[in-house]
Amino acid sequence: MSALDVSVFPSDFAWGAATAAYQIEGGWNLDGKGPSIWDTFCHAKGQVFEDQTGEVACNSYQLWEKDLKCIQQLGLTHYRLSISWSRLLPDGTTNHVNPKGVAYYNKVINDLITCDVTTMVTLYHFDLPQALQDRGGWNSAEIADIFESYARFCFKTFGDRVKLWITLNEPYVCAKLGHEDGIIAPGIKEPGISAYVAAHNMVRAHTKAWHSYNADFRPLQGGQISLALNSDWTEPLDPGCPKDVAATERYKAFTLGWFAWPLFCTGDYPESMRSRIEAKSLELGYNQGSRLPHFSKNEPSPLGTADFFALNYYTSRKVKDWNSACKNSELSFKCDQGAEGVVDPSWPICGVHWLAVVPDGLRKLLKHIKDTYTNLPIYITENGFSQMGPVQIEDVDRCHFYHDTLQEVCKAISQDGVNVKGYFAWSLMDNFEWIHGFSVRFGLFHVDFATPELKRTIYRSGREYAAVISKHRTETKSKNVEDILSRNV
Ligand code: GAL
Repeated sequence: MSALDVSVFPSDFAWGAATAAYQIEGGWNLDGKGPSIWDTFCHAKGQVFEDQTGEVACNSYQLWEKDLKCIQQLGLTHYRLSISWSRLLPDGTTNHVNPKGVAYYNKVINDLITCDVTTMVTLYHFDLPQALQDRGGWNSAEIADIFESYARFCFKTFGDRVKLWITLNEPYVCAKLGHEDGIIAPGIKEPGISAYVAAHNMVRAHTKAWHSYNADFRPLQGGQISLALNSDWTEPLDPGCPKDVAATERYKAFTLGWFAWPLFCTGDYPESMRSRIEAKSLELGYNQGSRLPHFSKNEPSPLGTADFFALNYYTSRKVKDWNSACKNSELSFKCDQGAEGVVDPSWPICGVHWLAVVPDGLRKLLKHIKDTYTNLPIYITENGFSQMGPVQIEDVDRCHFYHDTLQEVCKAISQDGVNVKGYFAWSLMDNFEWIHGFSVRFGLFHVDFATPELKRTIYRSGREYAAVISKHRTETKSKNVEDILSRNV
């Protein structure tokens, strides 16, 4: 294994780890918190592995100091957390603020500052207040204004100290898995319809929050704000087959392009996506208007509403044409897309079935983003490797994974000229992995969920990540000293 050349990373590189409120906090009904759609989803039986829930999770609501110790032990420069919307605003609106929720996040943010760790805050990581779902959730147009009020409340309350904001995490996952497939909260299965509406309202919500921040908070607070987009790297299954090549372009358009085009390219969805959906509607005799909503001229445009590119990368896919596999009458996202992503048999799978380990896909994707979308700084806001089955504290495979991945990030920086500003490992510690419950472990720290203390123990991969960070810090410091000395000569 060749050594990692940490000098390639810029001196102010963000070395981070990420978590999300529902996955770690617990305290689901403590101190005035309102329920979220994930509380509801987990309480309905048969949706999550062994009917587990995030009621307690890592209990970070009460054990925050333990998390802080983990963060310090790793030597992180940055920590990405999410705010539980319904802990702060139990019914989702600013009509009722929960002071204990405000106090909790104030403490977390202040403690991080004391420890010299920069906080990146995600406003929404899948856990919509149930009260808002009862009003239609992401399928209701009013949600964009309600989200904007929530975002403004957070900017006003925490923005003097938080300078890196993510509005929404992975709108693709939320729309597709939550509103098309119905396999995550809120569990809506309305193929070919609901995901496009939910996604549209998410983009509108993000846009309004960005414009609010830009106009009313940035001048005083000086922070940056973006939207975290997940994407696989994709290539045609058979590069010599024109149908697979075309399918790969459609796959890209319907995943990353769905959100990146409005923000970085045109202010609208990819043209290929629009024309496919219109054509399919026509073919199926669907006549209730366009399934892919249009952006209104009376609202601010999404174009330009990202101060950096926030990328969650986990895996890659080979793409094949799916057109002929679609039944004539089928209304669905997949038939609109007409493409299927498959795992190359040569890729190892880690833990969960969907997670093929393909570190060099990250380098290719970073270059693709630079070439297609923007030269803005890129933060890799999530990337990780899971374990299932017997716990291995000496998690050698995960160590290799992080090593190989950071090598690819190095190459993206040094050979492809991509402006990568930071890397956030998913996750700081083992946590509630959505429908997989606690059966899948992504942490740099092991959490012993069998005991009430929820003891955190560093994995070998955590120790190795800490060593990389420390090496980079040391080299950066000595380089700074050299620079100062050479200036004085
Ligand atoms: C992402 C999600 C995280 C985490 C991760 C690993 O899609 O943002 O919350 O669960 O996947 O599966």
